[in-house]
Amino acid sequence: MTMVITGATGQLGRLVVEALLEHNVPAAQIVATGRDLARIGDLADRGVQLRRVDYSDPESLRQAFAGADKVLLISGSEVGRRLEQHRNAIAAAKAAGVRLIAYTSIANAGSTDMQLAAEHEATEAALEESGLPHTLLRNSWYLENYTDRLGGYLEHGAVLGSAGDGRVSAATRADYAQAAAAVLLRDDQAGRVYEFGGDVPFSLSELAEEVSAATDRPVKYQDLPAEQYTEVLVGAGLPEGYAAILADSDLGIARGELLVTSGDLSTLIGRPATTMREAVQAAALSPAA
Ligand SMILES: NC(=O)c1ccc[n+]([C@@H]2O[C@H](COP(=O)([O-])OP(=O)(O)OC[C@H]3O[C@@H](n4cnc5c(N)ncnc54)[C@H](OP(=O)(O)O)[C@@H]3O)[C@@H](O)[C@H]2O)c1
Repeated sequence: MTMVITGATGQLGRLVVEALLEHNVPAAQIVATGRDLARIGDLADRGVQLRRVDYSDPESLRQAFAGADKVLLISGSEVGRRLEQHRNAIAAAKAAGVRLIAYTSIANAGSTDMQLAAEHEATEAALEESGLPHTLLRNSWYLENYTDRLGGYLEHGAVLGSAGDGRVSAATRADYAQAAAAVLLRDDQAGRVYEFGGDVPFSLSELAEEVSAATDRPVKYQDLPAEQYTEVLVGAGLPEGYAAILADSDLGIARGELLVTSGDLSTLIGRPATTMREAVQAAALSPAA
């Protein structure tokens, strides 16, 4: 059984490879792909096969997927170019005759107005059209989207956003990765649609309260109009288009579009998902905080 993991040079994909190895999948049966393979040379040392893939290069995908039984297609990071890239990957999976392709989509795809969802929804449609047996892993937000900004929250005494009182079912990349590995390890996954998210959703005010409690420093949530939040993100160095997409995603959170109540994540990983409180406490203890 050969499993190809795309995006394995990135954070989520690497964690999926690690989870498969922890489940005693023979390293030689795992193919880890990405553009910058130098980042995962250590996986090759452990026996994992490395193959270079650029989603924009169909031939690289065909070569990487040859002989694969299952493919985990981790959504690319080049917003605006992803549909074509994902279509290339789906075509290569079809040419390779894979038994299953699993795709990391976004929570509530099909019923959300978030701009970020459009490419995911179109990719889901492309999978359906392809006729390939597939599984949709609709992931909510990463907790790390917040915990990575802990230093900034403390510096400014504020969590900024445009999410109002909306709650988000964020979960750690590690938990999403374990769920993706569980899907790859099972044989009955074709046609399934998972809505993955944390068990305990939270508002950004609650996030600020937890940051305060974990660090003993005053931090408050400050809600901003989306245009103003976009300007703040641009001022912090983000490209304008990406900043606008993040602010738009906060508006989606305000509408409850990253809220997940399925329980799919904890069911599949066989334990409660890591909570925001646990993640904030761990981040507060790390030297970077
Ligand atoms: N749920 C959330 O909160 C959230 C947040 C951010 C992103 N995401 C989505 O989830 C995905 C995985 O998250 P992550 O944290 O692991 O992101 P990440 O660390 O940035 O990794 C992205 C991965 O995608 C690969 N990739 C990007 N463009 C590619 C291309 N043209 N051809 C081949 N590989 C390509 C990268 O490979 P190279 O670096 O080797 O090129 C890398 O392995 C992201 O790509 C994005 O679609 C979700």
